[in-house]
Amino acid sequence: MEKLEVIGSNKLKGKIKISGSKNAALPILAATLLSDKKISLFNLPKVNDIETMILLLKSLGSKIKINKKINSVYIKNSKKINTLASYNLVKKMRAGILVLGPLLAKFGKAKVSLPGGCAIGTRPVDIHLKAFSKLGVKYKISQGYIHARAPKGLIGNSIKFKKLSVGATENLIIASSLAKGKTLLSNCAIEPEIIDLVNFLNKMGCKIKWVGKRSLKIFGTKSLKDLKYKVMPDRIEAGTYMIAAALTEGNLRIINADPKIMKKEIEILKKMGIKIKLKDREISIKGGKNIKKIKLKTSPYPGFPTDLQAQLMVLMCKADGKSEIKETIFENRFMHVSELNRMGAKIKILGNKAFVEGNIKFEGAELMATDLRASVSLILAALTSNKKSIINRVYHLDRGYENIEKKLTNVGAKIKRIL
Ligand code: EPZ
Repeated sequence: MEKLEVIGSNKLKGKIKISGSKNAALPILAATLLSDKKISLFNLPKVNDIETMILLLKSLGSKIKINKKINSVYIKNSKKINTLASYNLVKKMRAGILVLGPLLAKFGKAKVSLPGGCAIGTRPVDIHLKAFSKLGVKYKISQGYIHARAPKGLIGNSIKFKKLSVGATENLIIASSLAKGKTLLSNCAIEPEIIDLVNFLNKMGCKIKWVGKRSLKIFGTKSLKDLKYKVMPDRIEAGTYMIAAALTEGNLRIINADPKIMKKEIEILKKMGIKIKLKDREISIKGGKNIKKIKLKTSPYPGFPTDLQAQLMVLMCKADGKSEIKETIFENRFMHVSELNRMGAKIKILGNKAFVEGNIKFEGAELMATDLRASVSLILAALTSNKKSIINRVYHLDRGYENIEKKLTNVGAKIKRIL
């Protein structure tokens, strides 16, 4: 099992290029099942979740050519697609549930493994299923699979999500794109990755319009087009490296980032005393000695993203007093806390709130990664300690961060992969 060895305390200096967004690329890849036209996708991140999604699409019969050199894929689906998304692939990547919508839209049936839970929570799919039944889908759950059918095809309808859900919004946007007639989706999640998905679908010939802050009107269409599409940059990767610069009193230029979709993260880091300069596709971060304590909560976009909560907690450990962060999205997203406390942090959890003592000097330690964002928070803490840290179960990291040790080494970090 691969590990990462980190010996910190170098100030990170230089520039880091941000890869394409994993959480935009996954629904866009799933949506390609709608079409049997030619589709070229560019700027896909080289991360395991993308490889798993490509394997899943291939298992469904998609014809996919990968060009690793330019991080792109060329897809040309045949008419014949099988509609079974099996457990062995969906268990590795929860976003496998996103093939349910396109399979139902295109083929009127699907057998998709329940994604199951993960370290951060049970991750139910009830919001997806309830919304699909409003489009005329009949389903039953047996032996860990969703058996879904749309005997008369998907029929457009008005659907109001009972709770904001990124995945459910994406699944229903994709499905409604081929449904008969008009669908109105309200109380939608509006993460930038969803905007990217809508842009992709419209470019492919779908008819989707934002008719309110969280409302979409979708007219089902039959005629789709060939298209080439470049996936948006990864705002969570960008936020992670911004925090790395702040933590190590470094000076980093984050290239290919889009500050317009990171307003909240930039606001919070400025409040903590971090110096930030913005350009159209670049964010410069200068870390200093005094980091101010802060109290905040995670929220759906445009609030502070839950996917940056673990990383920000490490910065809070360096602040000039006690900070507090409330996790409002997932029920168990403090798995990194026990590992950070083993490195010398003093973090107390009360329900969905974490109380973080400041002025911490992290020690090196042997650590265990538990989920994607928790594992990167351990690297961030290790980067500030002049002792050696070993991080086990690096496969969690490889799901969502492209070449992290190379990107960090290029700006002065001492980090390497060991067996
Ligand atoms: C997406 O997950 C992201 N994953 C997550 O990123 C991100 O943390 C999350 O959105 C929130 O922003 C991808 O885009 C692949 P939700 P998703 O549906 O769609 C509950 C990462 O690290 N819920 O918005 O699964 C759910 O349990 C990952 O890249 C239901 O109760 O998130 C959670 O508490 C982690 N029923 C809340 O809603 C449902 O049917 C938000 O979940 C669906 C969700």
